[in-house]
Amino acid sequence: MAFYENEVGTLIDEAKVQARVRDLGAEITRDYRGKDLTLVCVLKGSTVFAMDLARAIDLPLTMEFLGVSSYQGGTETTGEVRITTDVSTPMAGKHVLVIEDIIDTGLTMSFLLENLRARHPASVKVASLLEKPSRARAKVAIDYKGFVIDDVFVVGYGLDYAEKYRNLPFIGVMKGK
Ligand code: IMP
Ligand code: MG
Repeated sequence: MAFYENEVGTLIDEAKVQARVRDLGAEITRDYRGKDLTLVCVLKGSTVFAMDLARAIDLPLTMEFLGVSSYQGGTETTGEVRITTDVSTPMAGKHVLVIEDIIDTGLTMSFLLENLRARHPASVKVASLLEKPSRARAKVAIDYKGFVIDDVFVVGYGLDYAEKYRNLPFIGVMKGK
């Protein structure tokens, strides 16, 4: 029995996740052909998705990593976001695709988009594996969306609960939460 089986149930299985990521990669390949594409992975949650997505994109591209921490007010983000690790090259003139694990309230992504747009990239778009529309507080247009889910706490495929379960190959839900 796998270590997580008492704690985590399956929401979206590995085959479905992989198929969706391949489709998104094909769509991005069509849209960015001939352009200078830069993937900006938001640490840590988007890394698993970002690495699979990058391998599904048939174009030359560069990868950057951006770390953010949101100030928590109780259990929810207050919308105050701080960059803890910045990208390593200027974003000016680049076609930037920000990669996120999940857009929940949307506050983190709207902060990031505002911050990145101020650096004068050629374009900024968003790819998010998951969206929880029922919790939206800031409007964020997701250009490449994996799955829309209900308001449940999910783990796996990069997403964590107390820093654990990021390595599960599927998207799961915590049992009894
Ligand atoms: P937002 O600012 O509320 O959209 O917060 C988005 C961030 O909260 C995501 O990048 C995740 O790191 C985290 N998050 C939101 N919902 C979940 C969840 O169900 N599981 C794990 N992390 C989550
Ligand atoms: Mg995140």
